[in-house]
Amino acid sequence: MTRSGFVLSRAELVCDDIPLSAIAAAVGTPLYVYSGATIRARYRALDEAFDGYPHRLHYALKANSTFAVVQLLRQLGSAVDANSIWEVEVARQAGFGAADVVFTGVGKSLHELAQAVPLGLRAINVESPGELERIETLAARFGLVARVAIRVNPDIDAGSHPHISTGLRINKFGVPKDIARDLMTSIGSRPHLKLVAIHVHVGSQITSLAPLRSAAAFLAQLATELDARGLRLEYLDLGGGLGISYDGADVLSARDYVAALVDEVRSTGLPIVIEPGRSVIGPAGVLVGTVIDIKRRAEDSDFAVLDAGMTELMRPALYGAYHRIEPVKAAAGGTRHYELVGPVCESTDVVGRDRMLPTLSVGDLVAIHDAGAYGAAMASNYNRRPLPAEVLVDNGQWRLIRRRQTVDDLLALER
Ligand code: LLP
Repeated sequence: MTRSGFVLSRAELVCDDIPLSAIAAAVGTPLYVYSGATIRARYRALDEAFDGYPHRLHYALKANSTFAVVQLLRQLGSAVDANSIWEVEVARQAGFGAADVVFTGVGKSLHELAQAVPLGLRAINVESPGELERIETLAARFGLVARVAIRVNPDIDAGSHPHISTGLRINKFGVPKDIARDLMTSIGSRPHLKLVAIHVHVGSQITSLAPLRSAAAFLAQLATELDARGLRLEYLDLGGGLGISYDGADVLSARDYVAALVDEVRSTGLPIVIEPGRSVIGPAGVLVGTVIDIKRRAEDSDFAVLDAGMTELMRPALYGAYHRIEPVKAAAGGTRHYELVGPVCESTDVVGRDRMLPTLSVGDLVAIHDAGAYGAAMASNYNRRPLPAEVLVDNGQWRLIRRRQTVDDLLALER
């Protein structure tokens, strides 16, 4: 392979050497394409950055749980973080054992907990005293000891977009830090519960080290206090959150991120769990769309209407997120100003605002970059649009890993 990932080769975008235009011609658009080489490289970069310090990566399935992606991560040695019993089930079907799964989530229904408790997962990450009681009751009923971690809300500002910051007291996540200590101590005398870890996750797309460092320091301090009270944990779960570069600017490296975590936690001697999602899969995926209409917007600007929009990639509509967009084949000729919009009947369905691009024509393919995380996973059927096809390029070949939905697939649930 010349260069892995999505690069220009002879004026055309390729994924791990395979032209995106060839895949789109075979599968159609809208289409997600993932680079296996990028997934492997990004997973390994995080894993190797621990430099011998005991750790486990629990890939956050919510970022992208397409089955073949999950299977590839298992081959790489990853464990998983599941955010619903259905993600737990996907992980199990992909071959993960109970000890490879941590189960997080601010609202686990009784039905989900009743299924999860007997599995003996590595931990259920508990979000409230009430949830802990429900787990305890179930464990007693099954005659088991449930392995739990307490997710603590450290009241730390992640400095990320407010919609994806989770670590402040005003956010719905975790047990407030002032009541967490007593809750943990109480577990010592509750025979159906075993406290194996404490957990923080302060947000996603975090681009400065400070909040991640503070959260790790907070957890290390708490572990030291618990240890003094005779509560020895198995590991510390520091959550996910490492940001990626959507616009080409420099971001934290895997090495700097992990070094900071290890630095804050080393004195406890406890192994580290992290739950990376975006940093593994984000840059490993593009959404490929076709220009289906061009129309005048202003004297010097056009709308380019794509067959890919908020139903395939919700991030721009939901968070005003920026994704780099470029034509799959660079046309010779001038540039023009575009508003790249999706086909959905919502004014917020804009995938790229105010972009200067090589002149586009109807039928051209465009690639929307860094869409591997929270892209396909958040796609919807609004306007009865079928969920898009997904392709994985790996070991020099591409394969369809999720066929495009059909209207019959949709109606099958209603007949
Ligand atoms: N662990 C927990 C408990 C989480 O809630 C999350 C993400 C992660 C790990 C993984 O975080 P990551 O490494 O991917 O930052 N849809 C939003 C992101 C929502 C993140 C939710 N939690 C977006 O598209 O930006």
